[in-house]
Amino acid sequence: MTDDHHQEAQQAEALAAIAQADTLEGLQAVKTKYVGKSGLVTKELGALGKLPPEERKARGAQINAVRQAIDVALTEREVTLKRAALDARLASEAIDVTLPGLPLPAGGLHPINRVYEDLTRIYERLGYAVIEGPEVEDEHHNFEALNVPWYHPARDLQDTFWLEDGRLLRTHTSPMQIRYMVDHEPALKIVVRGKVYRYEATDATHEAMFHQLEGLVVGDGISMADLKGTIAEMARGLYGPSAKVRFQPSYYPFTEPGADFAVWWENPRGESKWLELGGCGMVHPNVFKAVDDLREAEGKPRVYEGKTGFAFGLGPERIAMLKYGIPDIRYFYANDPRVLGQFRGELG
Ligand code: FA5
Repeated sequence: MTDDHHQEAQQAEALAAIAQADTLEGLQAVKTKYVGKSGLVTKELGALGKLPPEERKARGAQINAVRQAIDVALTEREVTLKRAALDARLASEAIDVTLPGLPLPAGGLHPINRVYEDLTRIYERLGYAVIEGPEVEDEHHNFEALNVPWYHPARDLQDTFWLEDGRLLRTHTSPMQIRYMVDHEPALKIVVRGKVYRYEATDATHEAMFHQLEGLVVGDGISMADLKGTIAEMARGLYGPSAKVRFQPSYYPFTEPGADFAVWWENPRGESKWLELGGCGMVHPNVFKAVDDLREAEGKPRVYEGKTGFAFGLGPERIAMLKYGIPDIRYFYANDPRVLGQFRGELG
């Protein structure tokens, strides 16, 4: 083979190897083989010195041309392979914006709080102040001042959680009637939200801890008609303009007269029935007297005797059970995520 042919063959072979290299490592191997420190072309360049000077220049030019062609091809191939590697990486790491996102663990309002929100909105619209109060009470506020005499069955040890210091867990929100009236002069309109406790066996509709919404309105000339109108307005707020209410005489020591009230409840599933919601009545004069006594003991004027007012108390659990189709009150407080998880993300 002449030198010319040898150079051509070597160049062609190198260029073919470069074109075939499909990884950067493969390309590096080709580079080393031909133009590395002891590569074929490098060696030939190194051997130029052994040639007679008249041949050296022409051979040198030939070999350098081969080397240059190989260098150019190597650089081009390297650029191509790097771009391909980058494209592949971009494709494999691309973010598919159409994929569903990862769910964020979000909470939601407890169904009882949602019912409280509904009720609060209704009463705020009617101009009521919304308050809360202590769950640990004394006997006087929970019973005596509310005209619940010592022999009343509600005072039975069975019904009350007593603390060692003689105080108790309030059995209803009514003691806040007393506390609020001692601190404020009439006229007033309040609703009280909060937990109450009873030492009772639990079943599908009774819990030992549950909630109440208490209402109290005191002023001059407040009548039973105002009470009935207020409960009817609440029923319309909860169940729409055609909601009906029913009152039946009942006995609460702190009211005279007293009544139980029920709301005619219909839902989109076609169910309907009277929903017994709670108790109500006109504030008993003994309650006003007890408040004035407490006020007097604190050096405040007696301002309640001679006033009139109404009060009511209801359990939001009943409303929530029907509204959300929850068949057992105990589900609200068992903290089973299969139940409460259904309210996740619901904020109103
Ligand atoms: C009372 O607690 C009175 N303080 C209500 C009241 C206030 C009457 C002002 C008049 C004037 P009662 O014990 O009926 O009343 O309870 C009121 C409501 O609480 C009931 O109608 C019911 O909805 C709810 N409730 C009572 N006991 C339980 C219980 N163990 N579990 C769940 N809800 C209950």
